[in-house]
Amino acid sequence: MTYLLALDQGTSSSRSIVFDPRGRIVAQAQQELPQIYPQPGWVEHDPMEIWRTQLATAQQALRQAGIGAADIRALGITNQRETTVLWNRATGAPLHHAIVWQDRRGEPSCAQLRSQGLEATIQAKTGLLVDAYFSATKLQWLLDNVPGARAQAERGELAFGTVDSWLIWQLTGGRRHVTDVSNASRTMLFNVRSNQWDDELLALLNIPRSLLPEVLPSSGDFGASDAGLLGAAIPIGGVAGDQQSALFGQACFKAGMAKNTYGTGCFMLMHTGANFQTSRNGLLTTSAAQPSSATQYALEGSVFVGGAVVQWLRDGLQAIRASSEVQALAESVPDSGGVMLVPAFTGLGAPYWNPDARGTITGLTRGSTLAHIARAALESIAYQSAALLSAMSRDAVANGGAPVSELRVDGGACVNDLLMQFQADLLGIPVVRPAVVETTALGAAYLAGLASGVYAGQDELTTLWQAERRFMPTLAREQAQALMARWEHAVAQAVLPA
Ligand code: G3P
Repeated sequence: MTYLLALDQGTSSSRSIVFDPRGRIVAQAQQELPQIYPQPGWVEHDPMEIWRTQLATAQQALRQAGIGAADIRALGITNQRETTVLWNRATGAPLHHAIVWQDRRGEPSCAQLRSQGLEATIQAKTGLLVDAYFSATKLQWLLDNVPGARAQAERGELAFGTVDSWLIWQLTGGRRHVTDVSNASRTMLFNVRSNQWDDELLALLNIPRSLLPEVLPSSGDFGASDAGLLGAAIPIGGVAGDQQSALFGQACFKAGMAKNTYGTGCFMLMHTGANFQTSRNGLLTTSAAQPSSATQYALEGSVFVGGAVVQWLRDGLQAIRASSEVQALAESVPDSGGVMLVPAFTGLGAPYWNPDARGTITGLTRGSTLAHIARAALESIAYQSAALLSAMSRDAVANGGAPVSELRVDGGACVNDLLMQFQADLLGIPVVRPAVVETTALGAAYLAGLASGVYAGQDELTTLWQAERRFMPTLAREQAQALMARWEHAVAQAVLPA
């Protein structure tokens, strides 16, 4: 039997999963990744810890599967996106901790770009809104603040990479400095229409071109791991940013197909085919995983506080002792009793984009209990996702397409049946949970499998993808619309007066 290995390097942990050719999990291993918070608003990772934990889980997963590296046809990498690493080409040593996607230190530089009136130009080239979330201003900060970095960069001695590039550099012993289009599209330096680094943006941000990795399609030849690391050389055949990888793992290959990942936050992506579409509703345009050189795009929106609202119920409100208790508490009442909870703890993302909004509870009565609040908290994940999906459908229709007709789901909280049923009720379309919910890792394995001939093409992947359960909407549309109206009213209350 031949297998595929997926390395899934996420924000909070490094994981490795061995899949069989039918996409079933054979073994998996996980290690936590320490978070570093040097000051408020800053978040860092130690690049050597990223590498150490990732390699250790790959070795562990192979051991658990009871197979050797020679049984693995190819490996795929999927990763937290935007996180920025800068290292020395000669020694391989990082110059600084990685600056994580959540880190806000690039904001002054973004404010400057906005004040220069460059937002429209940047959006037209990259599909992104000017924000410190993306790699560009993180890299700029490193060059300007790490002593000697800029001079070394100008001499061509340094390499920049997102986490995929960093892992490939390590896996190949420094022989390959590459990334894929889906990761490159999150840097704010990459022109997603021409699939090339953009010289005008590089000049604007004063980034030397010599720092940048070569950009390849998401499936192909990314080198091979050094034989000493995993027991034998394994070809690296697939690379994609984690959200695009999940879209691929959900077999969402065609315009209008969408997935939502329910994690700490939620990430929703809708494939838009070969069309670059600019959102009129506050969504980002991003490169989808591209198995060949043909461009493929997606619209993306994220909910900042998704499953994290359950952590707040546990640690902040102390309404539950363990996150797993939330479903029982929420189900102990038939509905939220009119209570709405807007978890705008860190502002609101798409489609609202209000950094100053704050968490709000509305509709409390003398009869409201912790159970109603727990139910409202859980439902807030679905309300926020429904607002995102409706923005996506509006964009799809404005571009001559059809509204989204089903939502594929994955991520930790998609196991919660109550939440998934409520999601379907709000949306009025089926919510479909796949048999394999590890779709992020699966996407990377699929991309690697395509490159290595395990799969004949994407049609084969479409047939492999299987639903475990379809949650059908049961609520009358007028009732769902009334609930959404209440939600939007509660959101309006979350916006504080200036
Ligand atoms: O854009 C950030 C995203 O890629 C991080 O995903 O799952 O590592 O939190 P995750």
